[in-house]
Amino acid sequence: MRYLTAGESHGKYLAGILEGFPAGVKVTKDHIAAQLRRRRLAPGRSARQAAENDEFEIVSGMRGGLTTGAPVCVLLKNSVRTIPRSSSVPRPGHADLAGMLKYGTMDAVLIRERASARETAARVALGSFALRLHELLGISITSKVTALDGQDAVNSGTTEARILRARRAGDTLGGIFEVTVGNLPAGLGDFNHWDLRLGSRLAAAMLGINGVKGFEVGGGFGLAAMGGIEALKHPELSGGLDGGMTNGRALTLRCAVKPVPGLPGGAPSADLRGFRKKLSVSKTSDTTAVFAAAVVGEHAAALELAGALLDKFGGDSIGEILPRVEQWRKTTKRTLSGL
Ligand SMILES: Cc1cc2nc3c(=O)[nH]c(=O)nc-3n(C[C@H](O)[C@H](O)[C@H](O)COP(=O)(O)O)c2cc1C
Repeated sequence: MRYLTAGESHGKYLAGILEGFPAGVKVTKDHIAAQLRRRRLAPGRSARQAAENDEFEIVSGMRGGLTTGAPVCVLLKNSVRTIPRSSSVPRPGHADLAGMLKYGTMDAVLIRERASARETAARVALGSFALRLHELLGISITSKVTALDGQDAVNSGTTEARILRARRAGDTLGGIFEVTVGNLPAGLGDFNHWDLRLGSRLAAAMLGINGVKGFEVGGGFGLAAMGGIEALKHPELSGGLDGGMTNGRALTLRCAVKPVPGLPGGAPSADLRGFRKKLSVSKTSDTTAVFAAAVVGEHAAALELAGALLDKFGGDSIGEILPRVEQWRKTTKRTLSGL
């Protein structure tokens, strides 16, 4: 299974193509719309999100509400279509400067339009197909934000107030989100090669989310400070992965999201035509991306894990895959009961 997206932040459409997804999976438009809404209306987002409605169309790969096994193509309409004027002032912390150098352009907008996290809406649209597959296989994927602005224990009572305070101060916030996956069959992924290890595939998917700068599985960086005796007392600290394979326990992934780089009051930059110092102002930026990124993280993980399931169990339709997974669960349960 593989997927691709195309499209720019203020272009007519974003497109997502999902190839190798099994037939016979019921996916409703309501389900996809609900997932897109979770990303769009997550706490901390800017006024642009109120203007977007993520209207979409499934143009291939489905018949009568079921996937057919053919490539799924989803087209998402952009409501906000005013392409910003050309600018030779790169925004610090964004793809602008490196992208301008790489593609030999003085126009940062050409880089921004595709580097924008608007693209993650297409990943969510495709990921919602993967989420449905997991649901049919009894696998749960959830996410939560565990830290905002360096403070733990995020709760909805204080979150909005903290975001509002930052917005009023012209500042932005980073945070940490966690994705938990329950009831995964053991033995997904492989220890034989570095790129088959499930951790490396998940790391690529999660670090591929705009603004994600850190990734850990289970106890992650904290394990480095423990002795082996202590660490082995907490097998859940391996986060559901041993030797690059699922071990039958819950999978826990954690990502650090940097503070949104687009500052409403402006960040020091320079006009590359003439090298005059200039402020790069981002009036329409989100105050924090961590809540929306958590939703994207669920979908990115769902896509990767769906690929790993199909690698292990094969099968072209849900009717073929489901009994294989159930049989495998019985076999592994029998083996584990002997421990
Ligand atoms: C869902 C989501 C929304 C984001 N919204 C903004 C935003 O409004 N303004 C901004 O400056 N960065 C935003 N970001 C972060 C930037 O896209 C990201 O930091 C930038 O593309 C540079 O990439 P890098 O941080 O991965 O190097 C968002 C990220 C995500 C995942």
